[in-house]
Amino acid sequence: MKLLVTGGAGFIGSNFIHYWTKKYPEDVIVNLDKLTYAGNLENLRAVENSPNYKFVQSDIADEKPVEKLFASEKFDLVVHFAAESHVDRSILESDVFLQTNIIGTHNLLRAALKSKTRFHHVSTDEVFGSLEKTDPAFNEKTPYDPRSPYSASKAAADHLVRAYFHTYGLPVTISNCSNNYGPYHFPEKIFPLFITNLLEGKKIPLYGDGEAVRDWLYVEDHCSAIDAIIKSGKIGETYCVGGNSEKSNREATDRILELLGKGEEMIEYVADRPGHDRRYAIDATKIKNELGWEPAVSFEEGLKKTVEWFQNNEAWWKNIKSGEYQDYYQKQYGK
Ligand code: NAD
Ligand code: TYD
Repeated sequence: MKLLVTGGAGFIGSNFIHYWTKKYPEDVIVNLDKLTYAGNLENLRAVENSPNYKFVQSDIADEKPVEKLFASEKFDLVVHFAAESHVDRSILESDVFLQTNIIGTHNLLRAALKSKTRFHHVSTDEVFGSLEKTDPAFNEKTPYDPRSPYSASKAAADHLVRAYFHTYGLPVTISNCSNNYGPYHFPEKIFPLFITNLLEGKKIPLYGDGEAVRDWLYVEDHCSAIDAIIKSGKIGETYCVGGNSEKSNREATDRILELLGKGEEMIEYVADRPGHDRRYAIDATKIKNELGWEPAVSFEEGLKKTVEWFQNNEAWWKNIKSGEYQDYYQKQYGK
């Protein structure tokens, strides 16, 4: 199979490329990525010289290069990760979220349609809005109720993907996944920020009362869920993917402090995020019953592995925190 992976230099996309090349070494992967602040080719050092891997730097919001790539490569499958993904950034500057997440997704759909290429769209549970403590978890039938520019742009993309299925018969699937964590997580999101701050002896900024809840999934489990959907999912269907592992930010922070032998004096309570979604939780019954998928890594095990990864890969996150990683492409490709 020949896959187009978009956003493969980001957190989940790069984990997916590692997962896929290990499991299906015969498959060919083309990684299309703009290399925004979140794209880092160092994530892909282990595969960059493989004859079955190719990197293309391009913006999915630019229609022509996307069309050209589809015409020249003849893909069997698109796995679409590329997005602006950080809620806090979307609050500060929403334009690029609309460009990439909506226009970019539409460009890919239109190009995929010309060749009727199977399209898997990677989305988020944030499209469903925010839950109260006692509400049932989100499932595939939960109405959309996005509340941040990020989740609104992802919701729009999901609707477009479904529209291309119903209107034009494009073979699509969608996954709406809960919060991921693990290796290569950009150190601006809560877990990698807190772990690396603590490793540097810095305080960790907990928003509001620290009682917002997220359902955490180890990134490799997200990759195996996408694999299950690609291989056995029903065309036109959506699958909710979650870790069955709800933690308040304070609870998760306490586990990180414990793993790094630090005390709660390192926590600095800061102003809450505007419109902060209180709770996300996923009911992953459908993917379990229909595709036999379940998370393999517990929160305790995954967090321990993640902390160890950041301890063992100091150069990776220090380059990001200092901004040096963005020179890598230039050094590597001379552009
Ligand atoms: P990320 O921000 O780490 O990576 C995004 C990647 O997309 C980067 O490599 C970036 O360079 C690339 N990109 C951004 N704009 C682009 C453009 N216009 N053209 C081409 N490439 C572009 O994001 P992530 O956390 O890896 O998330 C990947 C996908 O998974 C996103 O679609 C996100 O909505 C979804 N998702 C993320 C989570 C999570 O917890 N991180 C959970 C559920 C779903
Ligand atoms: P984040 O990693 O931005 O993901 P999400 O898309 O789910 O908002 O944030 C996860 C949770 O952590 C969210 O409730 C906001 C909170 N948070 C902090 O308390 N401090 C921080 O510095 C960050 C980045 C997030």
